[in-house]
Amino acid sequence: MPDEKKIVLSGNRPTGRLHLGNFTGALEHWVNLQKQYTCYFMVADWHVLTTDYEHTASIPGNTRQMIIDWIGAGLDPEVSVLFVQSHIKEHAELYLLLGMLITQSRLERNPTLKEQVRDLHLDTGEGISYGHLGYPVLQAADILVYRAHAVPVGEDQLPHIEITREVARKFNRVYGEVFPVPEGMLTPFSRFPGLDGRRMSKSLGNAIELADSPEEIERKIRTAFTDPQRKRRTDPGRPELCLIYTYWQKFGAQTAPEIYQGCTSAALGCVECKQRVARAIADYLAPFREKRRDLESRPGIVEDIIRAGDEKARARAVETMQVVRKRLHVG
Ligand code: TRP
Repeated sequence: MPDEKKIVLSGNRPTGRLHLGNFTGALEHWVNLQKQYTCYFMVADWHVLTTDYEHTASIPGNTRQMIIDWIGAGLDPEVSVLFVQSHIKEHAELYLLLGMLITQSRLERNPTLKEQVRDLHLDTGEGISYGHLGYPVLQAADILVYRAHAVPVGEDQLPHIEITREVARKFNRVYGEVFPVPEGMLTPFSRFPGLDGRRMSKSLGNAIELADSPEEIERKIRTAFTDPQRKRRTDPGRPELCLIYTYWQKFGAQTAPEIYQGCTSAALGCVECKQRVARAIADYLAPFREKRRDLESRPGIVEDIIRAGDEKARARAVETMQVVRKRLHVG
């Protein structure tokens, strides 16, 4: 039976526990896509090596934590395929073959790479590695080996999807039609503010994690920035400029109008507003924490889930590679 539903694939590098920015920027969208598509969600552990090849000991623990957060947030391993990139060696084989179909100069023009080179100061040290330059080729292999139709990603990843499309078209032209040319699906709300108003990010230390306890959430929210012009309790506030109000809109939408009214009339002070939003976020995340506790209390369950996901992923990747090898007369 051919699969009637379209195939979606996405992935994340394993960074450990996820935060509200990861949730609103990707995970929440993925959870919704499960209803409509056959979904493959991948822990991109090989991709970590492109920038961090010296620090690999934390990869297994981070992989496990990420899978737990995925399930806690609503990815269902009975419905979607949750798996680990490096367990499916077919990605590596396809990556090698696709590497012949793209030029070095095309990869050097990749804007996401240019940004990384700047942010990580790779232009001053030993330079960029061959593997890092090939990051989008590996990503193309991740996507094409499942013959995916759509790839939900944030804006920064769109150039990689464009490269994937070019490589897929080239393959189909040279060797005959094998791959659907996948569409990038832009994740709505891909920017979510952290406690200091900058983009929420683990490395900036401004994140609320999905696994944080209600007490931790309250402690963190207490330090959050608010409207800088609201200096005294009696000053009216400007919710549209206050990041706490952004949190209300996302995690306590029903209460948000009342908060807006209270803030702009100075009837509600920031201290109370923060305590209340902390509770709203903690309540929102309660089922996530519950699911995490449940998984952590069952030894081996996460490993079993990964093994089952790997098997499903492998079956499809093997099928693709059989066709690919035949078309190339190699392998
Ligand atoms: N590059 C993606 C990121 O950093 C992770 C990733 C790897 C990915 N392979 C993928 C995303 C395939 C979508 C499809 O976020």
